[in-house]
Amino acid sequence: MKKARIIGTGSYLPEKILTNFDLEKMVDTTNEWVTARTGITERRIAADDEMTSDLAVKASERAMEMAGITADEIDLIVVGTITGDFPWPATACIVQDKLGAKKAAAWDVSAACSGFVYALASATQYLETGRAKKALVIGAEILSRVIDWEDRNTCILFGDGAGAVVLEAQDGENGVLSTHIHSDGSHWQLLYQPGFGSRHPASVAGIEERLPFLHMAGNEVFKVAVRSLYDVANEALNANDMTVDDLHLLFPHQANRRILDAVNKRLGLRDGQMYVNVGLCGNTSGASIPLALDEANRKGLISEGDVVMLDAFGGGFTWGSVLLRW
Ligand code: UT7
Repeated sequence: MKKARIIGTGSYLPEKILTNFDLEKMVDTTNEWVTARTGITERRIAADDEMTSDLAVKASERAMEMAGITADEIDLIVVGTITGDFPWPATACIVQDKLGAKKAAAWDVSAACSGFVYALASATQYLETGRAKKALVIGAEILSRVIDWEDRNTCILFGDGAGAVVLEAQDGENGVLSTHIHSDGSHWQLLYQPGFGSRHPASVAGIEERLPFLHMAGNEVFKVAVRSLYDVANEALNANDMTVDDLHLLFPHQANRRILDAVNKRLGLRDGQMYVNVGLCGNTSGASIPLALDEANRKGLISEGDVVMLDAFGGGFTWGSVLLRW
C-alpha cells in the first residue's frame, strides 16, 4: 500500500473582518459575553461577489504552489462543504473548472464541520490503493450566507474561509497513518439547515419561518462535541499504539475555545500541543481544520516526521480523525 502524503497546504480568508464590537450593533450581545463563552474576538466575512468556490480556488492555488504541481496533474478534487455555490452541482466541479484540472474527478462531501476530515479520509483510499496519484482536498465555507443574523445564539460563532491540501501517493513511512470516521444520524435536528431541501421545499412562508438558516441547540452540541473529539482522538492513538506524548500537534475543529479547552484537559495535552486559531477566524465549519493546518505549516511549526492529528466533529452528527506522519 502507498501512503497518502500532504505535499502542500494553502488557505484563504476573506478580507472583511467582523468584530464582536460590530456584532454588538447588530444583536443583543456584548464583546465580553462572546469572548468569555467562545474565545472568538473576530471572524471573516466573504465579499458579496465571492462564492465558496472562489475561496476554495484561492486556497487550492496556494497549496498547489507549495506542492509544486500544476492543475493538470490532479486526479481527484474532494471538497468538504455545506455552503457550496449551489445545492448542486458540486462545488468541487466548479473548482475543477476554475482551476482547469481537466482530468480530475470532483465531488463534494456533506459532513458539516467534519467535512474536511471526511473528504481527506475518502481521498486517502484512492491514493493508498493506487487508483489515484495526486488529490486536492479542500474545506471551504461561506457560513455567513446561511446564518440568521438576528439570532444571537448562532450569529456570533461562525466565519468564512477555506483551506486545502495537495496529497500525493508515495512509498515510505510518511503520510496518513489512519483515518476513523463516524456518524450518529439520530441527532440531526440539533444542528442543521431546515430549508430548502425535499423536506421543506422553497416557499415564501419558509423564508418567513427562517428555514433557510442554520438552527442549533448549542448546549447539547457542546457536550457531544467534547466527548466525540476526545473519543476519536483516543481511538486513533490506540489504533497506532501511540499515546498523546507521540503527538507533535493536534488540530481540532475550531468550534469554540471552551470546547477545545475541555478536550485539551481530558486528553492531558502539553502546553501548545493543541493548535487553536478560533479567536480570529470563528467557527468556519469544514474549513477550520485545513485553515489551522496551513497557518501552522506556514509558521514552520511542523517538520518532516512529526506526528499530527486532525480531529473533527460536526452536524449529522459526524466526527472523525486523521493521524499523519508529516
Ligand atoms: O461546529 C460545531 C458547531 N457548534 C458549536 O460548536 C456550538 C457548541 N455550543 C456552544 O458553543 C455554546 O453552547 C454557545 C456558545 C452557543 C452558547 O454558550 P452557552 O454557555 O451554552 O450559553 P447558553 O446557550 O446556555 O446561554 C446562556 C445565556 C442565555 O440566557 P438565559 O436564558 O440564561 O437568560 C442565552 O439567551 O446566554 C444567552 N445568550 C447570549 N447572551 C449574550 C445566548 N447567546 C448570547 C449572546 N450574547 N450572543
